[in-house]
Amino acid sequence: MAKKSGAAHLRKTEPLIPYEWPGSYFLGKEELAAAASVLKARSPFRFYGPDLQGYADRLEKAYCERLGRKHALAVNSGTSALSLAVAALSIGPGDEVLLPGYFWVSCVAAVVRAGAIPRLVDVDDTFCIDPADLERKIDGHTRAVLMVHMSGAPGAIDKVSEICRNHKLPLIEDCAQANGASFHGKPAGSFGDLAIFSFQLNKNITAGEGGLVVCDDENLYRRAWACHDLGYTRNPQGRLDTSSLQLWGQGSRYSELLAAVVFTQLKKLDKITAAMRKAKYQLRAKLEGIPGLSFRRILDPKGDSGPFLLLIWKDRETCLRMVERTRAAGVQTGSLGMNNVPMTDWGLHIYYNNLSLVEKRSLSAAGRPWTDPLNAFAANYEYKKGTLPVLDGLIDRSSLLSIPPTLSAKAIDKIAAEFHRAAG
Ligand SMILES: Cc1ncc(COP(=O)(O)O)c(C=O)c1O
Repeated sequence: MAKKSGAAHLRKTEPLIPYEWPGSYFLGKEELAAAASVLKARSPFRFYGPDLQGYADRLEKAYCERLGRKHALAVNSGTSALSLAVAALSIGPGDEVLLPGYFWVSCVAAVVRAGAIPRLVDVDDTFCIDPADLERKIDGHTRAVLMVHMSGAPGAIDKVSEICRNHKLPLIEDCAQANGASFHGKPAGSFGDLAIFSFQLNKNITAGEGGLVVCDDENLYRRAWACHDLGYTRNPQGRLDTSSLQLWGQGSRYSELLAAVVFTQLKKLDKITAAMRKAKYQLRAKLEGIPGLSFRRILDPKGDSGPFLLLIWKDRETCLRMVERTRAAGVQTGSLGMNNVPMTDWGLHIYYNNLSLVEKRSLSAAGRPWTDPLNAFAANYEYKKGTLPVLDGLIDRSSLLSIPPTLSAKAIDKIAAEFHRAAG
């Protein structure tokens, strides 16, 4: 319980954290001009129109160059990108995909909607997949591994890649929260057989919506392409080509208008992540020494894209007390923001907060994929709290701060001072 004496400084003040959505703060006249050029050309559809501006093509080319990839495909969301990666790998009933329990609901939905079984892997203190638990859980049904680079920074992607290589398992990297991050100099998104990105509002760069799939393999690319656009590829005139690949597709094409915005924002990505990283590590240094506080382990701080600081407290009671006191002292983003929260409140990022997963809900009356005879091997898999003891323990006593690229030195000092005061 919080001590009564602590209440003296629980005063209401102005929010100390100005802004929460990194990319959106940098939406400026350049993005406006790019979007306007698409509208002026009356060509918001990427494949044909009166005067195509080619922004989706340019965005894909820019990502290929950044990541050293052969192929990139712009799509309408990170959620679609995940489904397309799963479809490209022909994953379905009878298959299981290993993924961590700290994720976003889209990660698990992509697997379930494909008719396959998600199997949860515990994390280590990087808050990403624990390579040892991954190795333990690989079995004859495992068809792929989904590594999610959570909260801005890659986990042990070197070890996870090696394990996948040794077991000849495809690796998908989810870089939605780690656009612009790297691991010892190699960009996040350049390790897996496939990788995905998101340009939704909370992300390091944004157009409000958008996503990207990258890969090197021509066949995976063609499948992802066809699946994103009705099941077919396109001919040079931008019309559906029914003479080539024929699959079942989604309606996941990216709009030229949004591609224009993201292509323009991409030029600012390194500036945005550098600003967040700097602010994050300045704040972290000032919080060192608070009794009972440690931090998420970041394997390569130089490659951290910086949008979140995860604080691990000595126990849950301390965590809740510190969040309550510092929020009351202004360490928050205001009424619209989700900031400085206990991680148990971090919604659908935590596996046991996803009721559809815990209760094995289905879209079909027949209860697939859970009831599919091909998935009988997974009958005993569980998803309720307690399934991943390391993650459960960390989430129970950790809190999360989002770090905007605009956090001033003065605000950093003030936030640190409030944490020290609250701990006192
Ligand atoms: C880890 C992760 N994967 C995937 C997604 C899905 O991206 P989108 O919102 O663009 O569908 C998100 C978005 O929040 C995410 O955080």
